[in-house]
Amino acid sequence: MSEVILAQSAGFCFGVKRAIEMAYKQIENNEKTYSYGPLIHNKEVTGDLEKKGIAIIESLDDIDEGTVLVRSHGVGKALYDAVEEKGLQIVDGTCPYVKKIHNIVKEHHDLNKGIIIAGNSHHPEVIGINGWCENEAKMIETPGEASALELEQGAEYIVVVQTTFRQSRFDEIVEELKKKNIRLEVFNTICSATEKRQTEAVSLSQNVDKMIVIGDKKSSNTQKLVEICGKNCENTVHIETICDLVLNNFSKNDRIGITAGASTPPAIIKEVVVTMSEAFDNAVQNLEGSEEITF
Ligand code: F3S
Repeated sequence: MSEVILAQSAGFCFGVKRAIEMAYKQIENNEKTYSYGPLIHNKEVTGDLEKKGIAIIESLDDIDEGTVLVRSHGVGKALYDAVEEKGLQIVDGTCPYVKKIHNIVKEHHDLNKGIIIAGNSHHPEVIGINGWCENEAKMIETPGEASALELEQGAEYIVVVQTTFRQSRFDEIVEELKKKNIRLEVFNTICSATEKRQTEAVSLSQNVDKMIVIGDKKSSNTQKLVEICGKNCENTVHIETICDLVLNNFSKNDRIGITAGASTPPAIIKEVVVTMSEAFDNAVQNLEGSEEITF
C-alpha cells in the first residue's frame, strides 16, 4: 500500500493569508481598491480579485482616487510618501515580518551604518527593503558576491536577508562578510514559515519516491522548494495546478510527497491531494502523521 504525504506547512503563510483577507475585506466593504502589483504570485487568486474589482496598478500615475493595497512583499518609503501626497488611502498588507526588516534597515541607515541585503535584487521584497535606506543598500545573492563586495574598511555595516532566502546560503554569505575588515551586525530575517516549509521539504523529499511541489512558476519560495526537493528526490515535479499533473508518471506503489509554496491557495492543494489519493487509492497523511488535512 502506498501513501500520499502532505507537508503540514504546505500553502499560504501567515503574511499572504493576511494580505488576501485584507483584499477581500475591501471588496466586502465596496471600497475602490487597487493592488500595487499582483497581490501574490498566483494567477488563480489575482484573477479572482480582479474579477471582483481589485485592479492591479504598477504606478500611482495610473490612479487619481481610491485605496492602494500594499502586498505582503512590502514597498519602499517613497510609495507611502507618494500615496499621501496624492491624497489616496492605503491599506497596508506588508507582512509584519517584512515590516520588521524595513524598521531595522531604516533605524541603522539613520545611524549612518551601511546596509547589506542578502537576496535577489530584482525581487519586490528586496526592492522594497532597499527603499528604506534611500536605495543605498549593497545587494548580494551568493557567497562569491559577498566575497567580492567592496566595503569601507573599519566601517559599521548590518546585513539583513530576504525572508524567503535559504538559511544555508545565508550562513555562507555571513561567513564571507565576517572575513572582511568591517564591524558587522547580522540580522537573520529569514521567516520561520519559510524555514519550516523548507525543513519539511528536505525531510519529506528524502523519504518519498516522488515529490510534487505546487505553486506559481513566478513564486520564488516555490522555486526554492523545487530546488530543495530536487536535490533529495530526483523524481520531483513542479506544477501550478492539477492541470499540469501527468498521472501516468506515478504508480500504485509510489510513496508520494506533496508540498506547496506560500502563495498556493488551499483549494489548489486539496485538488491535487484528492486526485492523487483517489487515482491510486492511497491513504493520505500529513508529514507529522496526522490523518486529517484541514483546508
Ligand atoms: Fe511573511 Fe513569511 Fe509569508 S515573511 S509573507 S509569513 S513567508
